[in-house]
Amino acid sequence: QSIFHTLILFFTGLSPLIDKYLYSMRLSDETLVDIMSRFKREMHNGLSRDFNPTATVKMLPTFVRSIPDGSEKGDFIALDLGGSYFRILRVKVSHEKKQTVQMETEIYDTPEDIMHGTGTRLFDHVAECLGDFMEKQQIKDKKLPVGFTFSFPCRQSKLDEGILITWTKRFKASGVEGADVVKLLNKAIKKRGDYDADIMAVVNDTVGTMMTCGFDDQRCEVGLIIGTGTNACYMEELRHIDLVEGDEGRMCINTEWGAFGDDGSLEDIRTEFDKEIDRGSLNPGKQLFEKMVSGQYMGELVRLILVKMAKEGLLFEGRITPELLTKGKFETKHVSAIEKSKEGLNKAKEILTRLGVEPSHEDCIAVQHVCTIVSFRSANLVASTLGAILNQLRDNKGVTRLRTTVGVDGSLYKMHPQYARRLQKTTRRLVPDSDVRFLLSESGSGKGAAMVTAVAYRLSEQHRL
Ligand code: GLC
Repeated sequence: QSIFHTLILFFTGLSPLIDKYLYSMRLSDETLVDIMSRFKREMHNGLSRDFNPTATVKMLPTFVRSIPDGSEKGDFIALDLGGSYFRILRVKVSHEKKQTVQMETEIYDTPEDIMHGTGTRLFDHVAECLGDFMEKQQIKDKKLPVGFTFSFPCRQSKLDEGILITWTKRFKASGVEGADVVKLLNKAIKKRGDYDADIMAVVNDTVGTMMTCGFDDQRCEVGLIIGTGTNACYMEELRHIDLVEGDEGRMCINTEWGAFGDDGSLEDIRTEFDKEIDRGSLNPGKQLFEKMVSGQYMGELVRLILVKMAKEGLLFEGRITPELLTKGKFETKHVSAIEKSKEGLNKAKEILTRLGVEPSHEDCIAVQHVCTIVSFRSANLVASTLGAILNQLRDNKGVTRLRTTVGVDGSLYKMHPQYARRLQKTTRRLVPDSDVRFLLSESGSGKGAAMVTAVAYRLSEQHRL
């Protein structure tokens, strides 16, 4: 190929060959609008009494009824399990002139054998880390209220209960599905007997994120995660939530949109690569939308595409190495690095060289293009489902133009150089009658979990008085 041709590829970002090859991963606006209306139907099914038991998108009530109102205060612990890291935080909320928050964090390891072992061992591990944290903070003699960010689908009938419906992402510990994680954690803490804790709330990470962002922006009514997994929550009118008594006011709904498509409703857009990812996953047939979108799978999707292209002689002059064939060798963080506008091609060279495929410059450009197609599809899909939520909020408010804020967190959204911009642009195109602010949650969902805990604590104190 001539330099000239390479330059054209470089500047236009177009590679006809790959485009043709990955045609089915490019979703037109027409398709995205269609997916938006499919997701809208799923939301309605999940909210309705009759359809909820069989709904694929669970639309779980969270018993969180408002974002922080600024009056919260106290000293709290937040546990954050289920994202890229297991974190424990101490959050002090004080009220001198205005509300201020002070946080201290520790990150703990969760080895794979613990994630995939018994539930008892997993919760013993959590309790042990909490003990270590309290020791470090010198608060082992105190009984602080704890908020538990547990980033998995849970049924709740109150704030301090979370019955795990099913594990997702990288976790699969036995004996936890169907059980209340608050009870399991309490049991593990009691068994140790060296400290006490008062678990006041179980909070999904989407809810924590919405609450964290709600602290800074009162308009925040959506929480969005695009990290290891993907999911969103939003404030729904109570009168639309059949499963919860009452008609006045709102409640936050954890959509669990990762399961969108599990009933076959996305089959027309799933590719052979998506099917292969699913087959090789911990939970085949489940979380099919998540598998097309989130960080846990994106690198692997790219790797599968590269393998097929190499096998067909479209890349690396057909060279296939054991590294290239190894599951997990191409990571989502590599996709992010390769899509950087300036160093991207050099990164591609570095990463592919490590896989032993001796890439040419054209190979690097092609791989960059594959990464773009896969990550763009992810952002487009999220724009569709988010668009359905935004439309619902607009209809609920009965306004023609929606003004709202979406709180966002997650490693993919934060680390990928183009993701946020693409998601925002597509969302605004799909929901033109809206002014949406995307607010990055700088401090994760821990602060939000502490806020939920603070409100719960205040209410329980009032109750006790
Ligand atoms: C998975 C979990 C969900 C969580 C999301 C993001 O989809 O099922 O509860 O919010 O990952 O971490």
